[in-house]
Amino acid sequence: MKVALQEERKILIRRAAIEKRVRQVALEITRDFKGERVHVIGVLKGACIFLSDLVREINLETSIDFIAVSSYGRGKDSSGQVRLLKDLDSSIAGLNVIIVEDILDTGITLTYLLRILRQRKPKSLRVAALLDKPSRRVKPVKGDYVGFTIPNVFVVGYGLDYAERYRNLKDVCVLKLPTE
Ligand code: PRP
Repeated sequence: MKVALQEERKILIRRAAIEKRVRQVALEITRDFKGERVHVIGVLKGACIFLSDLVREINLETSIDFIAVSSYGRGKDSSGQVRLLKDLDSSIAGLNVIIVEDILDTGITLTYLLRILRQRKPKSLRVAALLDKPSRRVKPVKGDYVGFTIPNVFVVGYGLDYAERYRNLKDVCVLKLPTE
């Protein structure tokens, strides 16, 4: 008899906890940049859900842009290569830039982004990440605003995918694959 192999999902962070934490992070940003404008840059695709909830809770003049990168060799060696797939639409010179990520993992993507964006002379450059997996880090980067620090588990939902699926889940879930 053929038995269908199931991918098992378990909720790690519930939607209500995410909502609450996103509001807190937005409040921190609002306080830190009081009276100023912020330019929020979403790193496609994973950050799109977090970004859309976050910016609606930021009580400042806010503009949005997106950047897309892909990386190879992530996690296997520290020389993982990052390639720019879609650049920003406009200049960030003189702006208070906040890079928004769904997750900080090895830190390779963020190291690359910080390097190329610093060269463009923003007034300030900060990082907001919904999730942080510090145990996986191979590059010494930190988020300025971190939603949740999590252990080394494979997570999906709220923007995060497995083979492009599950980004639309409202909760962050741990995905257990049938082979595990
Ligand atoms: C994920 C995530 C970060 C990056 C973090 O993107 O959105 O950009 O990986 O990993 P790192 O710290 O090891 O570099 P991914 O390449 O999976 O693309 P996606 O956002 O389109 O899912």
